Amino acid sequence: MSKLTVPSFRARKKRLGGEPLVVLTAYDAATTAVGEAGGVDALLVGDSLGMVVLGYESTLPVTLEDVLHHARAVGRTRKRALLIADMPWLSYHLSAEDAVRNAARFVREAGADAVKVEGGRNRLPVLHALRDAEIPVMGHLGLTPQSVLRFGGYRVQGKGEAAARELLEDARALEEAGAFSLVLEGIPSALAAAVTEQVGIPTIGIGAGPECDGQVLVLHDVLGLYGDFKPKFAKRYGEIGTAVVDALRAYDSDVREGRFPDDEHSFTMKDSELAALRQNAARPKAV
Ligand code: KIV
Repeated sequence: MSKLTVPSFRARKKRLGGEPLVVLTAYDAATTAVGEAGGVDALLVGDSLGMVVLGYESTLPVTLEDVLHHARAVGRTRKRALLIADMPWLSYHLSAEDAVRNAARFVREAGADAVKVEGGRNRLPVLHALRDAEIPVMGHLGLTPQSVLRFGGYRVQGKGEAAARELLEDARALEEAGAFSLVLEGIPSALAAAVTEQVGIPTIGIGAGPECDGQVLVLHDVLGLYGDFKPKFAKRYGEIGTAVVDALRAYDSDVREGRFPDDEHSFTMKDSELAALRQNAARPKAV
């Protein structure tokens, strides 16, 4: 299968006959390998890594170096999927020039095809600068996790008519500024359907209902790898965390009870070599 590109991703608008887009987060070589084997179209090195990999309570502590470190691993190992790197908080908020410099590191050092930026019309200068620098941008609207302090928690966005209208305006503005796709997170399904209808670029939903042009999920949520917390919008397709713990308990008891390693997992040497070794070890050393 040939590698997905930004134009081929952008062309996958459902109403234009495109197949739904499947996006998954990835953070390292192992998650890239399983994501690609699972058939996904794009891998997002999300700043969700702050929570599911680095143990923070929000995405706000995640730095550019953190995402770069993981994006490089994904970039080194992905074969076919589009690679999108998430710009972490404060990597695009200080100036458009700073945003370009930071985004360019994802392209140069990790081989990213695109970056993702949270926010609406307030991000237009950044989008224009990235477009001028030839760096494709995925927008992100709705329950944008980097806005958690302003929102006062992880609350569904775009609920009232005014808020819904604002979000629609933001979506149109991002498209006009050159975004090739939009993540819609934590908004009513009907609003996501309206945005999907009104923009010509693919919308990728997470907690935004079935009418989007594609879906994105955090790998750990899909696999049931991340504790007992189950966000309403995330469907678990496996209980890998439980399977991993069962496997590790079996390893633990095999070692404690002397069943591992056995002959099958050990190396041998010739009897004659062993006998010579024993003889030499028994002989006192000359002084
Ligand atoms: O950081 C992330 O993983 C994301 C997706 C959930 C959209 O932004």
